[in-house]
Amino acid sequence: MAVEEIQRAGELIASSQFAVALTGAGVSTESGLPDFRSQDGLWRQYDPSEVATLSAFYTDPHRFYAFYRHRLALLREARPNPAHYALARLEDLGKLHVVITQNVDGLHQQAGSRRVLEVHGNLREAKCTGCGRIFPISVLDPFLERAEIPTCDSCGSALKPNVVLFEEMLPEEVFEEAEASCRRCDLLLVVGSSLQVTPVAYLPHVALRHGARLILVNTEETPVDRFADVVLRGRAGVILPRLVEEVEKRLA
Ligand code: APR
Ligand code: ZN
Repeated sequence: MAVEEIQRAGELIASSQFAVALTGAGVSTESGLPDFRSQDGLWRQYDPSEVATLSAFYTDPHRFYAFYRHRLALLREARPNPAHYALARLEDLGKLHVVITQNVDGLHQQAGSRRVLEVHGNLREAKCTGCGRIFPISVLDPFLERAEIPTCDSCGSALKPNVVLFEEMLPEEVFEEAEASCRRCDLLLVVGSSLQVTPVAYLPHVALRHGARLILVNTEETPVDRFADVVLRGRAGVILPRLVEEVEKRLA
């Protein structure tokens, strides 16, 4: 990736009035959390139709929870990486208004980002499928240790991690706010997403339709590369800190 591209991207961010970031699993791979569609992504090891759909949760909860036990164990070890800290720094510099994330790992918040829209839910909580009560995700542990299906101590229904599964609706207000920020932004920074999953994959087009500039940071090509002002091919944990340096130079 050429220096001029980083400089160009730094210029666009420094001169933006309302920049928004849209992140995917690629921003957390350098924290030790596998993404989904890369060579060593989760959907190469597991079939998403068996572990990531609402039908899978109801028809084979034991297989569903075996997957989530694995995911939760990885999450316990994960810490924010330089990509997360760089986005939090851009917010501190007043050059990033919100992070829209498809990630459920909470690493943006741990790195200091204050405005984060979790459009695919989170793995901090579990939700009762019966009475809707919300629990801290740790409520699952004793059940998972005994290989039992976690149940609600109020109504006895099955508990589900508070993530959006395929076949489920996204949290409405959160997605509406994400869409509104993409309509309003003059710069969209897409980091670490293959943009294969709708409706999130539409958001870059919402921003473009409203005249926003587009910067992509990704190790592989995405369907919107051709619409981007700048495509920075490489690892987010290396590129984003360099972007912050470029922005700080211009704001000094
Ligand atoms: N730096 C930059 N890009 C990276 C890095 C990295 N360190 N590591 C991986 N990538 C890129 C990959 O090349 C890939 O294009 O990040 C992208 C991750 O894409 P996916 O694995 O498809 O993840 P994501 O786009 O977040 O998936 C969206 O799919 O399964 C559902 O709900 C799940 O939220 C997830 C959604
Ligand atoms: Zn309940």
